[in-house]
Amino acid sequence: MTNRPQLPPEIARRRTFAIIAHPDAGKTTLTEKFLLFGGAIQMAGQVRAKGEARRTRSDFMKMEQDRGISVSASAMSFDFDRYRFNLVDTPGHSDFSEDTYRTLTAVDAAIMVIDGAKGVESQTRKLFEVCRMRDLPILTFCNKMDRESRDTFEIIDEIQENLAIDVAPASWPIGSGRDFVGCYDLLHDRLELMDRADRNRVAESIKISGLDDPKLSKHIPADQLEKLREEIEMARELLPAFDRKAFLEGHMTPIWFGSAINSFGVKELMVGIGEFGPQPQPQNSADREIAPEEKPVTGFVFKVQANMDPKHRDRVAFVRLASGHFERGMKLTHVRSKKPMAVSNPVLFLAADRELAEEAWAGDIIGIPNHGQLRIGDALTEGEALRFTGIPSFAPELLQSVRATDPMKAKHLEKALMQFAEEGAAKVFKPMIGSGFIVGVVGALQFEVLASRIEIEYGIPVRFEASQFTSARWVAGPKDKVDAFVQANKGHIAQDHDGDMVYLTRLQWDIDRVGRDHPELRLTATKEMM
Ligand code: G4P
Repeated sequence: MTNRPQLPPEIARRRTFAIIAHPDAGKTTLTEKFLLFGGAIQMAGQVRAKGEARRTRSDFMKMEQDRGISVSASAMSFDFDRYRFNLVDTPGHSDFSEDTYRTLTAVDAAIMVIDGAKGVESQTRKLFEVCRMRDLPILTFCNKMDRESRDTFEIIDEIQENLAIDVAPASWPIGSGRDFVGCYDLLHDRLELMDRADRNRVAESIKISGLDDPKLSKHIPADQLEKLREEIEMARELLPAFDRKAFLEGHMTPIWFGSAINSFGVKELMVGIGEFGPQPQPQNSADREIAPEEKPVTGFVFKVQANMDPKHRDRVAFVRLASGHFERGMKLTHVRSKKPMAVSNPVLFLAADRELAEEAWAGDIIGIPNHGQLRIGDALTEGEALRFTGIPSFAPELLQSVRATDPMKAKHLEKALMQFAEEGAAKVFKPMIGSGFIVGVVGALQFEVLASRIEIEYGIPVRFEASQFTSARWVAGPKDKVDAFVQANKGHIAQDHDGDMVYLTRLQWDIDRVGRDHPELRLTATKEMM
C-alpha cells in the first residue's frame, strides 16, 4: 500500500476505514465521538442512548436495539479537518463475521479498539487476522484509560506478541485509572490533558518543546512526570519509532491511548487517520488493477441490505467506488446482466440520515436503492466488463429447516427467504423432494436474527428446526454429468436462490464417496460470489 501523489485532491483527501473490536471494547462510543467531531451529529448520546432509548444510530434493526448488538454493517460519511472520512461499521458479534469480512474488502484501513484492562481479546484476534490477509494498515486505539488498566509496556508487548505486528506508540499515557491525567503526543510533542468535568469537551492541547520543557511540571504532578520521562526514554530505546511505510504495508501499528467516553484521545486518532492513513487504494479485478484516479467510474457491491427502513420496502446495495468521479443520474453498466442502470437516487449515509449523493469519488461508499438486481460482488462500470476479486463467500456451517407457523404463508416465506439469500444474510436451499426450505448460516445467532427479521419485515412467524442434513456442497461440472448426478440423488439435492444445484448430506463419508465415484464433478463448500 502506498499513497500516490498524483491522485486528484478530491480522491486524495478520502479515508475509508472500519473499526474492529471485541464486543464492549468501546467501538460504538468511539464511533459516536467520530461523528460528533465530524459534525455529523450534534451531541453525544445520539448514537448510544441509555436505558430504553439505547440503540446505535448505525443500527437499523429493531432487534439490534433490543439486544444492543450491532447486526448489520452500515456506512457513515463525514468531514474532519480537510479530510472526508467514510467509516464503515462492522458488527462485533462473532456470528456476523461474514458481513464483517465482506465489509473489510471495502475499506483501506482499520482501527483496532482494545480495552486497556483486557488487551487483545478473541474477537480482536480474529478480525485482526482478516485485516492481515488483506495487508490492511491498522491504527490501534487503547480505550478506557480512565479505568485501571494494564501497564503500557505490557499492553504493547501483548499486541506485538499476540498479533505479530510492530507497535509504535503515537501517544503515551500519563497515569491510569483515577490518576490518568492525559497523554504525551509523541508525534507532535504536545501534552493532551483530559477534562474530567465535561465528557464531551475535547482535551486541552499544550505545545511542548520536549520532555525537558519546564511547562510540563506545571501540568503534571512531579511523581507522574518523573515516571513519564523514564517510560518514554525506555519506550524510545525499546520500541520502534513510527514508520509510515511499515504502517501502510501492514507491518506496524501506531497506538494511541485514550478514553472514548471522555472524548479523550479521539481527535488525535482522527488526526492520525488523516495524516498517515492510506488514500483510496487500487482494487483488484480478474484482469487488472483498477487505480482510483482512472477517469471511468467503477465500483463493486460489498453488501446488500433489505428493508433498511421498514416504511419503505427497499433494498440498498452498498457500493465501494473503486475509480472515477461519480455524478448522480449517471448511467452505469451492471456487468453481470450487461444491462445499463441509471443511478438516479444514490444515497450517502450521514449517520442515520440518508442524503441523496450528488457526487462521489473513488474511495466513497454509496448506497443504491434497487429491487434486487444488485448482488454482493456485482460490478458497476462505464462499460468495461470488470470482475472484482477478493469478496469472500462462506460455507454454511449450520443447517436448519424453516417453515411458517401458518402454512398459508408458505409462498410469502419463500419470497422473504430469497430476499435474505440475495442479501447474503443466509444461504437458502429448496430441496427437490418435499416442501419447505433449508437455511444455512455461519453462526447460530443468525437463525434468531433471521426469524426476527422475517417476522418484523414480512409479518410471517417462522420456526427453525433441526434439519436431517448437516453439510451442503455446490455441485459443479459438465452439465450432462451434473444432471445425471442430480437425477440419481434427488433425495439429497436442493437448489440455491440462483437455481444452482447443491448436494446435502449428514456424512462427510458421503461427500468423499461422491468425490471418488464422480471425478468429473466438483463438490465445493463455497460458491464464488462473482
Ligand atoms: P462496543 O460497541 O465495542 O461493544 O462498546 P461500547 O461503545 O458499547 O462500550 C461498552 C461499554 O464501555 C459501555 O458501557 C461504554 O459506556 C463503556 N465505555 C466506552 N468507552 C469507555 C471509556 O473510555 N471509559 C470507560 N470507563 N467506559 C467506556 P455500558 O455500561 O455497557 O453501557 P452504557 O450504559 O454506558 O451505555
